[in-house]
Amino acid sequence: MKILVLNGPNLNMLGIREPEIYGRKDYKELEDFIAEAASDLGVGADCFQSNHEGALVDKIQQALGVYDGIVINPAAYTHTSIAILDALKAIALPAVEVHLSDINGREAFRRVSYAGMACVKTFMGLGFEGYRQALAFLKEYLNGAKR
Ligand code: DQA
Repeated sequence: MKILVLNGPNLNMLGIREPEIYGRKDYKELEDFIAEAASDLGVGADCFQSNHEGALVDKIQQALGVYDGIVINPAAYTHTSIAILDALKAIALPAVEVHLSDINGREAFRRVSYAGMACVKTFMGLGFEGYRQALAFLKEYLNGAKR
C-alpha cells in the first residue's frame, strides 16, 4: 500500500512560523514523524511539499496509478483552491485531509475547506499526530475497499 503525503505552502516554515499555533518542530521532523508512523503501520509513504498550487495539482494528477491514497494538508490553499479540489476529484483516489491546527476554531475564512469536499475524512487540531491518524484511517479505509 503506497500513500502520497502532500503538504502545501509555508509548511516548510514549520518551527519558525507562528510556533504558538503550529508548534516548534520543523518540516524535517514532520517528514521523519510521517516516515516512522508509516513504517509502524506497514504502509509506504512518500512526502512532497510545495508552496505552489500548480505543483500540488501536478503531483495529485501524477498519483493516479502510482499511489493507493493521499493524505493532504493543502495549508492556505485549503481555503482558496478549486484547482486542488478538482484534481482530487479527477483522480478519485481516497484522500484524507489533515490540518495541524483546528481550522474551525480560528478566523472565519479558514472554516471553508475546498479540498475537504473531496476527502473521505479530516483530522485537525492534533498537530503531527493528525498525520499518523490519517495514515491509520486511510490504511483501514483502503483495506475495507479491497474486502
Ligand atoms: C493549516 C491551516 C491553514 O488555515 C493554514 O493556512 C496553514 C496550515 C494547518 O495545518 O493547520 O498554512 O493547514
